Amino acid sequence: MIPSTMKAMVLTGHGDIDKLVYQEVPTPEPGAGEVLVQVTATAKNNTDRKAREGLYPTKKGEMTSFQMGGKPTLIFPRIQGADIAGRVVAVGEGVDQSRIGERGLLDFNIYADQRRDINLTPDYYGHGADGGYAEYVALPSDQFHRISNPELADAELAAMGMCSYQTAYHMVTSAKVKAGERVLVSGASGGVGTALIQLCRIVGAIPYAVSKQDKADALLELGAEAVLDRSDLDSFVDRVKAATGGKPIDAVMDLVGGEMTDRFIDSMIFDMNSRSTYPRLSIAGASGGNISEILWTRIYLYQVQIFGVSHGTREEAEQLMTWIRHGQLKPVLHGAFKLSDLHHAETYFMNRGSNYLGKIVIVPDSQWNEHGKPFALENA
Ligand SMILES: NC(=O)c1ccc[n+]([C@@H]2O[C@H](COP(=O)([O-])OP(=O)(O)OC[C@H]3O[C@@H](n4cnc5c(N)ncnc54)[C@H](OP(=O)(O)O)[C@@H]3O)[C@@H](O)[C@H]2O)c1
Repeated sequence: MIPSTMKAMVLTGHGDIDKLVYQEVPTPEPGAGEVLVQVTATAKNNTDRKAREGLYPTKKGEMTSFQMGGKPTLIFPRIQGADIAGRVVAVGEGVDQSRIGERGLLDFNIYADQRRDINLTPDYYGHGADGGYAEYVALPSDQFHRISNPELADAELAAMGMCSYQTAYHMVTSAKVKAGERVLVSGASGGVGTALIQLCRIVGAIPYAVSKQDKADALLELGAEAVLDRSDLDSFVDRVKAATGGKPIDAVMDLVGGEMTDRFIDSMIFDMNSRSTYPRLSIAGASGGNISEILWTRIYLYQVQIFGVSHGTREEAEQLMTWIRHGQLKPVLHGAFKLSDLHHAETYFMNRGSNYLGKIVIVPDSQWNEHGKPFALENA
């Protein structure tokens, strides 16, 4: 029986974690073309925090979240949480009853239309509509993809959510990364970075991770060719040369920005004669700062191609779901927190220590024993 009310963590406005309120709300009903999903795990994204704090300006001085379609779509109260794993418990009009019981993973986008190869106004469940920090959520049936793989726990499945993996894949496809190319990945230990390392290997490219030295072993095990410490910028290009045998990086996947991006460009342009393609820079994040000072002359004289990346397309999400089903992508799950403990999870995420790699998942308290407890963090 589906209860008429459920527990949810409701975002009540832009601001600090006190804007997240754990409360009882009506259980949603699936509309036409939708499935009702009982949430078993939802991965946390840095995007949740930035949206909560209103840190997505496209003009100086703005405090806002996404509004690419012309107006803000983060309207309060809102239930955040984009990367949802769970089970279908009811279907709306036009959806086959046989889907009830299916375990799946959400393609988190709110697409503007049915186009499969372009997504011009990125928005997502947990932002423009309610998401997974709740016991139930209503989602479009064609975006809740069946992933039955018994070797993957629900928490691990959520850790492979599209907010990280689809963004990472779109960074790779935008820059037209090819087999054999050397690719620099910044923010390598995070959700998008760990996805990028794996995706570079899937397409046959060679990922060089920029991270901290204490995460090097884990990143090498994940597939990085070498790990470059991000602390000493002056020696960065020399260290790249040492790692690549003197060859320039073909393309950079930048999640960090700030003062590091200029050094990343250096790593592509130090020997233009040895290149066979233009230097390419895919940008999807700004964990190290939202402003980078770069000479335009450097960009156009060295013909650096820059790609801004937000989310990705339907066909990219479907490709990723296939790779997950075939066991070609691995979850990188750091640990689980109870939904009622989300404030603690947010603080832990912001102050994470040296052993942190990949994703945190949030599990409804009613699902905790089965889906969260095996991944609970000691000493969190
Ligand atoms: N465009 C999109 O559609 C999209 C989608 C998802 C995420 N994002 C953005 O992409 C970025 C990465 O997302 P994520 O989910 O992977 O975040 P994450 O899990 O928080 O990882 C970010 C990583 O960046 C590195 N980092 C953090 N602060 C840094 C600093 N001050 N200087 C240099 N490196 C720093 C750290 O890696 P190391 O310790 O390994 O260096 C950290 O693990 C964020 O800015 C996020 O908002 C964008």
